[in-house]
Amino acid sequence: MAEREHLEALLQESRLFPPPPEFAARANVNSPDIYAEAARDRLAFWARQAERLHWFRKWDQVLQWDPPFAKWFVGGKLNAAYNCLDRHLDSWRRTKAAIIWEGEPGEERVLTYQDLHREVCRFANALKALGVQRGDRVTIYLPMIPELPIAMLACARIGAVHSVVFGGFSAEALRDRIRDAQARVVITADGGWRRGGVIPLKKNTDAAVAQAPSVEKVVVVRRIGDEALVAGHWTPGRDLWWHDLVRDQPETCPAEEMDAEDPLFILYTSGSTGKPKGVLHTTGGYLTQVATTTWMVLDLKDDDIYWCTADIGWVTGHSYVVYGPLALGGTTVMYEGAPDYPDRGRFWQIVQKYRVSIFYTAPTAIRSFMKWGEEWPARYDLSSLRLLGTVGEPINPEAWIWYHRHIGRERCPIVDTWWQTETGAILISPLPGVTAAKPGSATRPLPGIEAEVVDGSGEPVRPGEGGFLVITSPWPGMLRTLWGDPDRYVNTYFGKFGPTVYFTGDGAKKDPDGYIVILGRVDDVISVAGHRVGTWEVESALVDHPAVAEAAVIGRSHEVKGQAITAFVILREGYRPGPELEQELKQHVAQKIGAIARPEEIIFTADLPKTRSGKIMRRLLRDIAEGRALGDTTTLADPAVVATLKAQYEEKEAGD
Ligand code: PRX
Repeated sequence: MAEREHLEALLQESRLFPPPPEFAARANVNSPDIYAEAARDRLAFWARQAERLHWFRKWDQVLQWDPPFAKWFVGGKLNAAYNCLDRHLDSWRRTKAAIIWEGEPGEERVLTYQDLHREVCRFANALKALGVQRGDRVTIYLPMIPELPIAMLACARIGAVHSVVFGGFSAEALRDRIRDAQARVVITADGGWRRGGVIPLKKNTDAAVAQAPSVEKVVVVRRIGDEALVAGHWTPGRDLWWHDLVRDQPETCPAEEMDAEDPLFILYTSGSTGKPKGVLHTTGGYLTQVATTTWMVLDLKDDDIYWCTADIGWVTGHSYVVYGPLALGGTTVMYEGAPDYPDRGRFWQIVQKYRVSIFYTAPTAIRSFMKWGEEWPARYDLSSLRLLGTVGEPINPEAWIWYHRHIGRERCPIVDTWWQTETGAILISPLPGVTAAKPGSATRPLPGIEAEVVDGSGEPVRPGEGGFLVITSPWPGMLRTLWGDPDRYVNTYFGKFGPTVYFTGDGAKKDPDGYIVILGRVDDVISVAGHRVGTWEVESALVDHPAVAEAAVIGRSHEVKGQAITAFVILREGYRPGPELEQELKQHVAQKIGAIARPEEIIFTADLPKTRSGKIMRRLLRDIAEGRALGDTTTLADPAVVATLKAQYEEKEAGD
């Protein structure tokens, strides 16, 4: 749908879905009083939430705010792995399923809290045996297998800082992230399954590590078991099999007493300029907020089977597959593969098989399900579901209604949760037992969170108006800095409205009821199927190809992915545009960054619209790609360029 029509639809959206009374009656939060309670004394509210965790030592001060640098629960001591494991062992939860895992080929593995504790301790001991110490960085490049959360929790247990790199990223992307973090150890697998095919993770790791001298050891999980995946890709002395390493390790390992502000993990995410940013999260505030939101928004209880479909390579997987549900002693489902393998009913088959009660996924997935047709979910028993969630990008009201009807069967509340890698946890969302949901709106900031929609000068907009989404006071799970680059942290997030106002990079509007509607990024970040890709990254990958002189990349709306990448490319002398070169360039980008960054289309052009100072006007390129009337062109150095480009683009579209 064209963006404008989409906005019109959002503006008119007035359907309200109050919590079903039977849901509200049992909900973890079922009174709006919690908002007032938090507003009365925000710090006392967060201190009460922190009580959910086990602390070796309580904090002296809830918040130390030296704008824009925050410290939470100052002086407190805790361990994230202890909170996710040990404290559940003293009760009946010892034998409760912590992780229910299903491999793409269909294997099943259930780890109780006792099992998970043992495996984490063994691997923690193995890491220590390799010389990993408190504060060291460990890069984890694994598919969605139990060893991934085991490795993360093992790092947390001994105070090492994990940096998980999504398994779909390329060798080069992995290399850059290892180098930036200066990781001593990389944990990977021989390969991972995806849609019946194998992703050669060890091969990619070797290519990355060859150019990352900080790496001393590479630990390899045997996931596929095909010798060909490691033959010729094995460096004796450096490379070690996971199963060999843990075999004789003791089954207990003390949990380090970490400071609340000690780093827990780094997670790289794309920005509008420059290389990916290493978002740094610390221990006490992060864990407090992910546990609180899992309780308050996802309504997790002891008898739930909870499934968040995100890959742990993204923040959603960190917070809501691993740390949130495990901190609460919940049962979390992990599925390794694709939603359409071996057929389009796979997700619903998993819901039916394990009697999943809470299901949390992305709008792009919902739009795929819509396209595949309601007959797929209709074949399965989805009566176990009681709550649905979405995250990662705006959900169009049509998709919301489809989700409500065909998955929730009109019984389940939907929580549309807004947050970011940087925020660590959900900040804007309905409370499912309290808030009346409205399709397309993440509704209101959660208790304890202060968000606003402001104009360019930082003044709140009036209801019905659009502006920038900002967070006006610090929150426990906020990023503390960008790894190795505090100046970039200050400039990126606090450069626009001053050191006390966090700028999200999102545009939003408040509807007449005061509900927040997220409109999408206002910077040069594209959201492809809910994953952030920086235009700068794709442009750099393109100009790295010998045929390309210049490139400009934009996101344009896409029916399923939300946004897709369109690249405008000027070729060097001697290269001829054509479908073969187009394919080659797409492949080149996929190889440099990963398949998510592959452009959907490439437009070869002789010129790009630029201002007189030489800045590419992406706004006009977006107008062209969206088929809109061109905006203001008066600042262009050569207005003829856009007219030519527009005609050329329309011709190509007609031809495709
Ligand atoms: O643009 C917003 C969008 O995703 C961005 C954050 O991306 P990332 O750091 O990769 O984290 C995604 C998962 C938390 C935001 O700046 N976004 C996230 N959730 C929503 C959303 N847009 C609209 N509605 C949401 N519920």
